[in-house]
This record gives sequence, structure tokens and C-alpha cells, in this order.
Amino acid sequence: MSEAMWGGRFSKTTDEMINEFQASINFDKRMYHEDIHGSIAHARMLAKVGILTAADCDAIVDGLLAIEKKIDAGDFDFSVDLEDIHMNIEKRLTEAIGDAGGRLHTARSRNDQVALDTHMYIRRQTIEVQKEIENLQSALVEAAEKYSDVLMPGYTHLQRAQPILFGHHLMAYFAMLARDFERFEGVYRRADIMPLGAGALAGTTFPIDRKYVAAQLNFERIYGNSLDAVSDRDYIMEFLSAASILMVHLSRLSEETILWCTREFHFVELDDAHCTGSSMMPQKKNPDVSELVRGKTGRVVGHLMAMLMVVKGLPLAYNKDLQEDKEGIFDAIDTVKFSLAVYAQLIRGMKVNKDVMKRAVTEDFSNATDLADYLVKKGMPFRKAHAVSGRAVHDCIAAGKYLEDMTLGEFQALSPLFGADIKDAIRPETCVKNRNSYGGTSYKEVERQIQAAKELLASEKTVSEEAKGKQV
Ligand code: ARG
Repeated sequence: MSEAMWGGRFSKTTDEMINEFQASINFDKRMYHEDIHGSIAHARMLAKVGILTAADCDAIVDGLLAIEKKIDAGDFDFSVDLEDIHMNIEKRLTEAIGDAGGRLHTARSRNDQVALDTHMYIRRQTIEVQKEIENLQSALVEAAEKYSDVLMPGYTHLQRAQPILFGHHLMAYFAMLARDFERFEGVYRRADIMPLGAGALAGTTFPIDRKYVAAQLNFERIYGNSLDAVSDRDYIMEFLSAASILMVHLSRLSEETILWCTREFHFVELDDAHCTGSSMMPQKKNPDVSELVRGKTGRVVGHLMAMLMVVKGLPLAYNKDLQEDKEGIFDAIDTVKFSLAVYAQLIRGMKVNKDVMKRAVTEDFSNATDLADYLVKKGMPFRKAHAVSGRAVHDCIAAGKYLEDMTLGEFQALSPLFGADIKDAIRPETCVKNRNSYGGTSYKEVERQIQAAKELLASEKTVSEEAKGKQV
């Protein structure tokens, strides 16, 4: 007979290599806290409905808390022979307290148990990710304020397009992160549903009280279909999807950071403490953090793809394929949290080369739209004004100068609508100041964005913030 906890119907023990292949303990042990507190809630429920005696329940709860302390202290021997975190803990409990331990698994399967653990784990980690998002958002607001008068070219097609405020650029990322925060809010809500009580797949013959379990663990809802409760991993796919979008945002910021600190752009200088050198080329200072975040984006998106593929062909209900949900989500959680934390530090240490950025808007034609807009305000149709401005650019390029170098006479030769005020109208500062439409790059509008951002950061505490206090 097999020694395994499920060994009754087996006449052989599991092959050693097969055992190692199918075990998940090496990675699912990180859910021990969830597993223990899920089991405590289950035991208390079993006692409440009369399936466990109060004495057995107390022994189980005390035994589980003692195991938690041991694991916390790094003083617990995990065994591959016991497959996973659920059986490692249950077996140790039974060794410690005897028969009462053997009663814990009444009306429960590892299928609903693992689903419970991962729901709890995702909920907790979602809050952690949100905290890191807020930290990076704060760093962006601080930088936008610190460099509130810095001009730079805004780009389309990576060609200089129109002058903008550097703060406007940073606040664009703040806004993306605000939506990421909201997406994780949704992830939390969908993970906030309690699967325990589904049993292996069909429910249980025992008179369990699922609402009581949910209340102890602060779950908002309970799965209403036992097959669904043990089969789906959509809450994991959703976390990975929100994480992937977030990483794509960070990856774009990384790409820009990398460009900005090239000798060619030279817009920013990263802190020496945040870069590394080359083993061969003494002059090098490399933006490794940004490159790694850009690279790790591929990994997180890969985990999303992997999870979608794992689930896509599975018949209901539980299949062991679902054990493949863990390594990817754990790695994604670590990667996202680390990337956010590191990026906040990078932004806080970054110095801006204000003069270089300014030169990129003055020694350039990114004020050509403003020249056209000037004529439109004097009554010329925009299409015509576009052509006049284009001509001015053409002539300047031929003469080796910029629009601001043109004399009033040269302007008037192109259109009699030009007056002496054209000089001021095409100064980069004026171009920026005048883009005062809601959401535009004007000083006022960027200031409004910064104020709104600060209010959001101070008040942005919705579901997760409330839930924070309720985490088990
Ligand atoms: N380690 C398993 C997992 O992660 C737990 C559930 C096992 N259930 C089973 N019927 N073998 O999915």
C-alpha cells in the first residue's frame, strides 16, 4: 500500500521521479499563511454546525497557529513526498494533535482548498501592488512639480512635434497608472469571492455554513456554482492581464528614459547609484533599471499568455493542469512589485537637463503649428494657414535658420496678416502657455493635473483600502 495521504487504493508507492514532477510544494509553500487561516475558518465552521467538537476545533486551531509560527521562523521541513502546501500542513498537524487533525479535511477537497488559498493570496497581493503603484505615482507628481517650468519637445513618430512641459509628459504616465490602480481594484473585486464548500466539484453531503466561512475571511461573495468554484482561474488571468498592461506602461516609460539619457538626447541624468558601468568600456554608465523593466515586461506578458493557454482546453472541473497557475502568477507579482518600487526610486533620483531640453524646442520648428494658429486667429482658414507656415519652414530650412529668426518683413511677404506680435506668439513658452484647453500642456493645465493628482492620491482609497484592514 502507498504511504500517501490518498494511498488507500494504491498497491505501489509513487515513482520517485513522478513524485518530484507532480509536487508543487517548492512553490506553493508561499501560500502557507492563506492555507492555515483558510483551514482555521473551515474548522471553526465545522464546529459551529456540530461536525467537530469544540475541543477538536481548539486543538486544530492551536495546532495550525503553532505550525504557522514554525514556518514564519523558517523552522519547518517541507516534504516533496507530501506534494503540496495543503498536505504538508495537514500531515504535520495530525502528527502533532492526533485524530482531531484527521477530521479537519471533512467536507473539503484540496480542489476548493487551493482555490480558496489563491483567492486570498491574490487579494492580498493586489493591495500590495496598489501601494507600489501609488508610490510611483507620488514620485511622478514630485518630479512634475519640481520641474514645473521645464520645456521639452513633444514627439509624434519620434519627430519633434510641439513644445510641451516636461511635467505634462510625466503626468501622462501618472494618468496611465491611475487606470492601472483602478484595474487592480477590479481584480480585487473579482477575487473577493469564496470558493470553499465546493468540495471536489459537486458540493458536500455535510450541513456546512459557507456564509460563516466567508464572513470569517472577509469575502464579499460566495461562489454559487461548485463546478465553477473549482474550475476557473479567471481571477488569476485578470491579475496577469492588469499586471501586463501596467508593465507595458512601465516599459514605454523605460524606453523613453533610455533614450533621454543617451548622449544624443541628453535630456536627463540618472543617479550614479541607479546605473552600472561596463567591464571593458570605462566611460559607460548604463540605464540597466529601465532596460530590465522593459525586458521583464516580456516575462509578465508571457505569464498571461501561459495562463490563458493552460485553461483554454480544460474540461470542467478540476484538472492538475491548474497547478500550473502558480509559478507564473508568483513571478508576475514579484516582478511587478519590484519594478514599481525600483522605478519610483529612479524617478526620484533623476536630474533633468533643463537647458538641453529647452534648446531642443528653440532650435527647432515645433512652433510651426502655432504660426499657423496665429494666422487662423487673424481670419485665415486653417488649411491655408498650414500651407503658409509650411512655406515659412521650407524657406527657413533653405536659409539655415528658424522661424523665430525671421524678420517681420519676411513674415509679411508670406501673408499681410502677420503683425509685430508674431514674434511672441511663436516663442516656445507662449506656445505652451496658449495650449490651455482642458487636458492640454499649458502651465495652468499641468498645475491643475498636479493638484487633481494630489487629491486623488489622498483620497484614492476605495475597496482595497477598506479591505486592507480586513485582510486575514
Ligand atoms: N497542488 C494542487 C494545485 O495546485 C492542489 C490541488 C490538488 N488537487 C488534486 N485533485 N490533485 O492545483
